[in-house]
Amino acid sequence: MTNADLEKIVDTSDEWIVQRSGIRERHIAADGETAADLAIKAAREALINAELSGADIDGIIVATSTPDTTFPSVAVKVQAALGCKHGPTFDVQAVCSGFLYALSVADSMMRTGHARRMLVIGAEKMSSILNWEDRTTCVLFGDGAGAVVLEAHDGGTGTAADRGVLSTHLYADGNHCDILKTSGGVSSTGDAGFIVMEGREVFRHAVDKMAGAVRDVLDSNKVTADQIDWLVPHQANIRILEGAAKKLGVGMDQVIVTVDRHGNTSAASIPLALAEGMADGRIKPGQLVMLEALGAGLTWGAALIRM
Ligand code: ACO
Repeated sequence: MTNADLEKIVDTSDEWIVQRSGIRERHIAADGETAADLAIKAAREALINAELSGADIDGIIVATSTPDTTFPSVAVKVQAALGCKHGPTFDVQAVCSGFLYALSVADSMMRTGHARRMLVIGAEKMSSILNWEDRTTCVLFGDGAGAVVLEAHDGGTGTAADRGVLSTHLYADGNHCDILKTSGGVSSTGDAGFIVMEGREVFRHAVDKMAGAVRDVLDSNKVTADQIDWLVPHQANIRILEGAAKKLGVGMDQVIVTVDRHGNTSAASIPLALAEGMADGRIKPGQLVMLEALGAGLTWGAALIRM
């Protein structure tokens, strides 16, 4: 769906949307297509890339705020579709930070021996919780899914030279729960509600909080910003991405940007950006990648990965 398509639905313009958010188009799931459908497609591609089958996976975590059903989880639907038969399988809900939360949980579970190969998926059908008459929100979001396979390896030196998830730092401050939320939910209005947002307030928190998380990750790994090869941020808004890059001291040529073509796909945006950076050869094995996100809650965090 392009900005021109949106001009036919609400009182907006391509110029306003591009200037304020950097978004030019976003993908909208087909009628009847669910978050699980998107998650399954992404998981299948991740397995092909990893040269594995569903039977090799012993744990699945899906980050989503837009599940097909209140229960069971999207993750068990993925499990059934892929023919995985065992291991912890559940959804995590931390909105735009969801992928980082899911990655952190999977990493911790693998370090404590709960699983050896896990799928971590971000999947969202944001279009189903948008008020298509509210121009302040409906122009910003899109649908999508991305997936990664994590595999445990024994040993490691405990330094930034190791491969894999080096560390994750997660944060939340529920005092800001009203600045970005849905207008309903199963135990209040009986439906999922629509996104309502105080855009300026969210913006105000985004850059500073993500920068703080990134700083904590760098310090705890004794890594300096100039050692980072790629910044893969949650894709909310190009101005937030630019602000975050500037704070970290990396150029925009080191930032994977998909927001122009995907909009804000919430928990799906980081794995979608990672997939794009890997597929086009920019992100290479051995490189150091910083992930960062902020979302409703507020929740936020950062993760350092050696690819
Ligand atoms: N088209 C045209 N005009 C619009 C639109 C639109 N789609 N939406 C709002 N406007 C108007 C407003 O009505 C307002 O008009 P007024 O001055 O006559 O009252 C004017 O544009 C300015 O509105 P603001 O809300 O002040 O615009 P702002 O510059 O703050 O940009 C935006 C809005 C893009 C939402 C910005 O605040 C932002 O990016 N915030 C971050 C929110 C975000 O990214 N949320 C995603 C979820 S959280 C996360 O992922 C980090």
